[in-house]
This record gives sequence, C-alpha cells and structure tokens, in this order.
Amino acid sequence: MKDWKFGTRCVHVGEGRDPFRAHATPIYQTSTFFFESAEQAAAVFSGKEEGYRYIRSPPNSPTHLAFLDKIKSLENAGEAVAFSSGMAAETAIVLSHLKTGDHLLTTDVIYGGTYGLFASLLPRLGIEVSFVDTTDLEAVKAAMRPNTRLVFLESPANPTLAVCDIRAICSLAREAGAVSAVDNTFSTPYFQRPLELGSDLVVESCTKYIGGHGDLLGGVVAGSAEQMKPVRRTAVLTGGTMGTHEAWLCLRGLKTLHLRMKRHAYNAQQVAEFLEDHPKVEAVNYPGLSSHRQHQVAKGQMDGFGGMLSFELKGGLEAGRRLMNGVRLMTLAVSLGSVDTLIEHPASMTHLGVPRAEMEKGGITEGLVRISVGVEDVEDIVADLSQSLEKVRS
Ligand SMILES: Cc1ncc(COP(=O)(O)O)c(C=O)c1O
Repeated sequence: MKDWKFGTRCVHVGEGRDPFRAHATPIYQTSTFFFESAEQAAAVFSGKEEGYRYIRSPPNSPTHLAFLDKIKSLENAGEAVAFSSGMAAETAIVLSHLKTGDHLLTTDVIYGGTYGLFASLLPRLGIEVSFVDTTDLEAVKAAMRPNTRLVFLESPANPTLAVCDIRAICSLAREAGAVSAVDNTFSTPYFQRPLELGSDLVVESCTKYIGGHGDLLGGVVAGSAEQMKPVRRTAVLTGGTMGTHEAWLCLRGLKTLHLRMKRHAYNAQQVAEFLEDHPKVEAVNYPGLSSHRQHQVAKGQMDGFGGMLSFELKGGLEAGRRLMNGVRLMTLAVSLGSVDTLIEHPASMTHLGVPRAEMEKGGITEGLVRISVGVEDVEDIVADLSQSLEKVRS
C-alpha cells in the first residue's frame, strides 16, 4: 500500500473493509456504539482496546475512519482528525497549541475568516498575534519572539496567491521551539504536502477541493501522532465534529482528487496566460506564471500550481464589477474548489472583515478579482471571460 502512487491511494486507501462486504463504505448514521460487556466498554474508554464509542470522539465512526485513513495516506501523516469546517479545524489548532501569554506568528495575506479568528478572538484570550510578510524570510526572523509558540502559514495565500518558503519558515519555527501549521486548502496534498516540507501540522478546508463539488462543509487537521494528541483532545472537548454524511462525501470526493486537481491546474494555467496577454488586464497572480514573484519558490515545493488565481483590471474596481456582472458560464459566489468555475471580489466578499490598511499591505486591492477555475472545457471558460471583458471599459 505504501508503494502505491497518489492516484491509486486516492481510490483505494480506507476502502474494502466493511464487515458486511459493502463495496462502497457505508454511512454509519449513528451517534453512539454499543458494547458486548461492561468490561469491553471500560477497555475501549480507557484506550486498552481499539473501538468506536461516541460520534464526537475520533475516529468517530467507520465512515470517518475510512476518510481519515485516506487523508493520512495522502498527507503522509501519522494522525488526522475531522472537523465540521475548516474554521473549526483552525480553532482546534490554536486552542491546542497556544495559551495566554503566547505569541502567534502568521502571514499577512490569509483567508478573511482566519484573519478574524486570529485578530479578534485570540487577543481576547491574552494571545499576541503578528501578521508578517512571510514571503520575506528576514521579516519572519525579525518577528519571532521568545514566546512564539505557533507559526501559522497559508501558501499559496488567499486571495493574492503569494507563496512563502514553507521549508525555511518551518525550520525557523522548529529552531525556536514553536509548532508550525500550514493551511493547504488551495493546493491539497495532490500539489503540496507541507508535512514533507517540515511543518508539524497541515489543515485543509474540506469544503473546497477535498469535497470537490461545493456541497459540504468540513475540515481536517493532520500531523504526527505526537503533535495531534492535543488537537484530538480539543476536538473532543469543543465538539466541532464532522458529520457522518460529510465524512462520506469527503471520502467519495477524495477518490477523484487526483483527476480533478490535474484538470483544475491545467485550466487555471490557460486562463492565467489568457488574462496576462489581455490588454485590459493590469496584473495576474498565479504561481504557475513565470512572472509570479515567488514562481521559483513555488516550483521548489509544489508539484503543480492549483486552480486558483486572482487579477486586477486596468479599470480597477468599476471594471472588475462590470466583469463579474457580465459573466454567463461562471458563477458569482464565494468558496472555491468546486467542479464549476466561481468568480468573486475579495475586498467586498471573502475579505470584507480585514481592515483596509491590512488589505493594502498584503496587496488585496479594491480592484482584485478572484477566480476558482473549474474543470469545464477551458475554451468555454476563456470565451466567457473574453465576452465579459469586451463589455469592460479600460
Ligand atoms: C484558505 C482557506 N482556509 C480556510 C477556510 C475556512 O474553511 P471553511 O469555510 O470550511 O470553514 C477557507 C474558506 O474559504 C479558505 O479559503
């Protein structure tokens, strides 16, 4: 099994072990599990015997276990825990690895919800937070403090696609005795495996590419058994558990992750090149373009560049609005990683809660438009953008 290539593991790991020989792993729609005897119950609860007990306690149910085994294999992790959302997963990381008086070092371009969690909730618990330009190693070094206990990265970052050197920063964190975690939602383990690059933890919003069809909310954290111990404990105590039906949808989504990601990235590269050559476009952010500022760093840590891109039109915000109102194939919506193409405006949608000064510092301009490129025929995506760009005054 260890020798299987990535796609084979997407399809097979965790499957084929139902006691009733169901071919597809069933949805074990139950909240609790019965025991043969009081002695067996005590053995399971004390950890002497492996077994399921209650849906909130990992591994939750056989449906969750199949999903978690697939994730562990794909992320190259010793342990994984499933959550009700990507935000619940991130909350579990910070509550597990930070306490009053500690310092969190994180990146200055980050998903708006994560920014809100770090900027508003953590300071109320007496945790110091620094938002740092993690594309600049010297800035990261300078921002480390004696009480830095967690370094949380997002690369490529939402929505500017900034890429940071995961290896170098995780190594700095380790030297300083801090835990490192990487939000890998944009890449998925198909294109980037942060644990192999030296991070202690990886977090994915399963709502995105892992589910893959825009029909569920979920999250997962993976890492070594040692680093996951406190995360597992926090998961039980805070109760942000992934639902069983969602675990099943994630399990099914992962079976085609390798196929979808390859197509997302192929399409995104074509769309990025089309936009870069378009006279009404000012700048395009896509790590697969040689013009991307961290293209070389991206090449050194990613197997491909994913399906997300953002760009700015010469006409700024007004032009961006016209473009978004003019598309016919793509959908104006937040979220990402679905099979269909989604377009959105970060400054007024996903990143609305980030103060303007912070946004500008990280390059999230008023005119920035983000696209989650789907797996449609790319000619149709390009044609849609092209017809909408025609209506835009430059
Ligand atoms: C990069 C990134 N991380 C985390 C999240 C949060 O995930 P969820 O919506 O599943 O809570 C999002 C949501 O958009 C995201 O884009």
